[in-house]
Amino acid sequence: MAGTEEKKKEDDVDTGTADEEEGNSKDEECAATEHRDKFNPTAYLNSFYKTASEDTAMQIVLFFLPGILYRLPQKVRTVLDLGAGPTVYLPIALRERAENIYTSDYAPANRDALVSWIENRSTFDWDNVCSWISNIEASMKTGKQMQEKTRSLMRAVLDVNVHESPVVQSVVWKSNQTTENIPGKFEVVSTVFCLEYSCETLDGYFRAVRSACSLIEDGGFLIQGGVLDATTYNFGGKTFRCHRLKQAHILESLKANGMATTAEKGYKFITHDDIFFDRTLKNGQKTGNSRIRRYFFPNLALYAERNENIIVSTPDKANAVAAYIFGSCEKLPEESEILDIIFPDNANPETILTGIDVCLALGGDFLSHFKRLEERLKLLKHSLRGLRRFTIE
Ligand SMILES: C[S@@+](CC[C@H](N)C(=O)[O-])C[C@H]1O[C@@H](n2cnc3c(N)ncnc32)[C@H](O)[C@@H]1O
Repeated sequence: MAGTEEKKKEDDVDTGTADEEEGNSKDEECAATEHRDKFNPTAYLNSFYKTASEDTAMQIVLFFLPGILYRLPQKVRTVLDLGAGPTVYLPIALRERAENIYTSDYAPANRDALVSWIENRSTFDWDNVCSWISNIEASMKTGKQMQEKTRSLMRAVLDVNVHESPVVQSVVWKSNQTTENIPGKFEVVSTVFCLEYSCETLDGYFRAVRSACSLIEDGGFLIQGGVLDATTYNFGGKTFRCHRLKQAHILESLKANGMATTAEKGYKFITHDDIFFDRTLKNGQKTGNSRIRRYFFPNLALYAERNENIIVSTPDKANAVAAYIFGSCEKLPEESEILDIIFPDNANPETILTGIDVCLALGGDFLSHFKRLEERLKLLKHSLRGLRRFTIE
């Protein structure tokens, strides 16, 4: 999506034609509603998912995803991927937590693609996306194992329309294990590049969010991903118009539907290069699940307890962040010193994910450390697994 969407700048609202300069002006222009009949699943997958490293938006999505999903409960009874298109990366990324996965789309061709993947008839190769996900998870699984496990959890493919009531229009495929009815509400609803792409107006976006929220159980989660400030996206010779989304629209629509919009109540928003992800809770309760609280501060306290003498008597030899926080040194720590404490050399994957949280909380230049983190997570695939807590030497 990044690299293909046309972004309107304030001063070129009608003619912001970076894409035209790149030759996209020959694209057939389609309304959002035309996703139903004009979406070509093969062209879409080849444009954005063939190698995750080809599309920046996908890189960001796949990089952020494990961190966002990590905040969900260890076991999630039911998940719905709303407007999945022909993609299965969300179910794959959720396979270790989810017990029953439902997927859905508006376009018949996409639902067919989902069914053919579930039935192992898909011609698209998901291995690259799987290895990207497994690297970030620091798991040792092969793409084949990841997909097999995910397939075994798939319960149904649904025909959905976020502008209709009911949203679930019909069940187009059901697994043999699905003897019960399809749930009316799910513990987790994930929806990526869908709600703002399903419409072209703010009203439409609000309606789409309302529909998505109506499918979530009380106390359940919405995971939303998308692009801010884009008016179109294109692939396979077609340009689809979409709603130009602002962060304020996201917050307003969530609030209107009883979803948490503050960190206190369990809201998390991540953005990078206008791609965003958020995780929010219906009827917002506290999650009590903050890794920063669980890992970063206890370990800072541990460091202080073990190194009290150094911090007090020779603060210049102590960890600069600890010395500053505990008041023995007035010099603000340098960025590199902050990074040393966020990502100590012996950090395990969980600690690195905590570090990602800290970087996101700090924002600004700290956001640029993701690449390095990814490399560290890759390396950790072979070492330090199972270490629950980190220590600061
Ligand atoms: C850009 S694709 C995103 C696909 C996938 N979620 C992803 O992350 O790549 C947009 C998807 O939104 C779906 N969509 C469009 N209008 C919709 C509607 N009214 N209700 C539900 N889904 C819709 C389209 O069919 C399409 O699959």
